[in-house]
Amino acid sequence: MKINYSEKIPNNVNLSSDRRLQRALERWQPGYLKWWDELGPEKSTGLEVYLRTAVSVEKEGWAHFDYVKMPEYRWGIFLTPSDSDRTINFGIHKGQPAWQEVPGEYRSELRRLIVTQGDTEPASVEQQRLLGKTCPSLYDLRNLFQVNVEEGRHLWAMVYLLQGYFGRDGREEAEAMLERHSGDPDKPRILEAFNEETPDWLSYFMFTYFTDRDGNFQLGSLAESGFDPLSRTCRFMLTEEAHHMFVGETGVGRIVQRACDLMKDHKTENTGATDGVRQYGGIDLETIQKYLNFHFSVSTDLFGQELST
Ligand SMILES: [Fe+2]
Ligand SMILES: [Fe+2]
Repeated sequence: MKINYSEKIPNNVNLSSDRRLQRALERWQPGYLKWWDELGPEKSTGLEVYLRTAVSVEKEGWAHFDYVKMPEYRWGIFLTPSDSDRTINFGIHKGQPAWQEVPGEYRSELRRLIVTQGDTEPASVEQQRLLGKTCPSLYDLRNLFQVNVEEGRHLWAMVYLLQGYFGRDGREEAEAMLERHSGDPDKPRILEAFNEETPDWLSYFMFTYFTDRDGNFQLGSLAESGFDPLSRTCRFMLTEEAHHMFVGETGVGRIVQRACDLMKDHKTENTGATDGVRQYGGIDLETIQKYLNFHFSVSTDLFGQELST
């Protein structure tokens, strides 16, 4: 399943054979680029960033690394290969062939799931757009941009499903993805965690630790969907998503380690804001705990419950 990069929209779904869908996606593309320009990482347009781009969906060597200007990143549509024998694994349809088209009786539920998932992807880019200004290191900046372009691609993944399988409603939903914005009082993102601010790097690492972990869980369950195109899309997204959690885990780990090292070096057990590690340039444990409590709570809420946002 080679990815065709000669087309305007890179893909491995043989897009050129479906003129209608191709045209719909090409019509959506300029709006997406405009959105990236306005609400993607601030003042990053001309930067050459060392990024990975998906070139194949196979486990061996799926990514290619090179310097790219982010607006020129090849956002595209990549699904894992279809397994023609795949059957539904759960529920009353268990054992039946997986659906290749949207079954009428589940149309609105599936659309809602795809829209909700898709909405989170650009939301996180919006939340993180100012972080480049305060990046702790070039390494962190590169990781941030990598996560951002991939969340952008995940929006493409969901928009492909909406436009390809949900007709007119799907096209309208695809437009709405670019109209809602994180924290917008009139048109906010759907889930509350994605309307919170990510104003600093401790928030960012907590976000990629907890919220991307929730995202990973959601994608893991969508990858089991009886609707085969959704399952295949999410399987490939999970490949990219692993790096996002790595960023969170190592980021939080480094901050905690630094706090502990400073406490040891300066023989201070006091973690208070003014007389603890903070005066040596670290982040005190109380503050880390406070951030953790917040991000843990809003992320747990994403799993859903009766009063879930
Ligand atoms: Fe994502
Ligand atoms: Fe992610």
